[in-house]
Amino acid sequence: MHTASFSEQLSPIEWGPLLNSTFSSVLAPFATRKIAILVDENTHDHCLEFLITGFDALAEAEVIMLPAGEENKVLEVCFQVWETLTEAGFGRHDLLINLGGGMVTDLGGFVASVYKRGLAFINVPTSLLGMIDAAVGGKTGIDFAGFKNQIGTFAAAQVTYIDTGFLHTLPSQEWTNGFAELLKHALISDVQLWQDLSYIQDVQKELQLETIQQGVQIKAEIVAQDLTEKGLRKILNFGHTIGHALESYYLNTATPLSHGHAVALGLLLESKLSVEQATLSKQEFLSIETRIKSICALQIPSDAEGLWALMQQDKKNDNGEVRICLLPRIGSCLFDQKLAFEVFEKVISGYCS
Ligand code: GLY
Repeated sequence: MHTASFSEQLSPIEWGPLLNSTFSSVLAPFATRKIAILVDENTHDHCLEFLITGFDALAEAEVIMLPAGEENKVLEVCFQVWETLTEAGFGRHDLLINLGGGMVTDLGGFVASVYKRGLAFINVPTSLLGMIDAAVGGKTGIDFAGFKNQIGTFAAAQVTYIDTGFLHTLPSQEWTNGFAELLKHALISDVQLWQDLSYIQDVQKELQLETIQQGVQIKAEIVAQDLTEKGLRKILNFGHTIGHALESYYLNTATPLSHGHAVALGLLLESKLSVEQATLSKQEFLSIETRIKSICALQIPSDAEGLWALMQQDKKNDNGEVRICLLPRIGSCLFDQKLAFEVFEKVISGYCS
């Protein structure tokens, strides 16, 4: 695997096989400290052994296992992790390693960032979505009161290690989830990447390492300019205002939407809004619609009011007004655009089942 590294403003990202990385030397100062590894049921079964057997420093690590699934990215689960850390006597100078997808790195980063006012943590994302988005950029968070990432912090991992070897442990649906975030990165900033991605039929078989790196680099470059989302970073939320509302809408129902599926639908609907309210052409929109329909089912409820209520909790809103991101064209993105309910309702009604 080609190994490269680049830094963002706060947290370094390192590419390539973990065994050839700086991981051992980053662990070295913790030799006389306590180390915990946070996993979920999936990474416990498929990734943990590799980590523990590959690195002597982790032989005695405390393993903390979370139940898998977004519905567990909640405060009650944080309590359990804090309890375990407290009972095991973890102090501020010890270390937490988050080994997993977005749920593990979001929750683990949050838990660490407030435990004794800040426990060092390392992210080892194991899913495509984690590598391309969640584990990069210093956002941590949990869901609360049915709203996505309602509670969280900006906190930098010591290092984020992206070893795409972990992707071989992923079921195919997980590839689609990460692919949705990659499509987002292309739509907001790179028309050539968008065209390259439009040829991919089987994400698991055809997605190249270089393309994943491109996706991560786009995110890292945006974050480096606006770490705490005062402005530009908001464009990384394209597709997420409606996507998060859809994900919350179906959370704890018989037909939950994965984050990637919800984001893919959000990209579609916010692109349609970009035709209505910005200058995205119908032809460009059709290419987006075709791509999204090829990767997921259009599970969109006919409850514009219900979705709108959820969107009113979005973190990008201002003064009670819903603000979204819009595409003037593929490869460019505007943020802080006001959205009126009537326009949203019209777009939703064209798609709902
Ligand atoms: N996932 C959007 C961001 O990190 O800003």
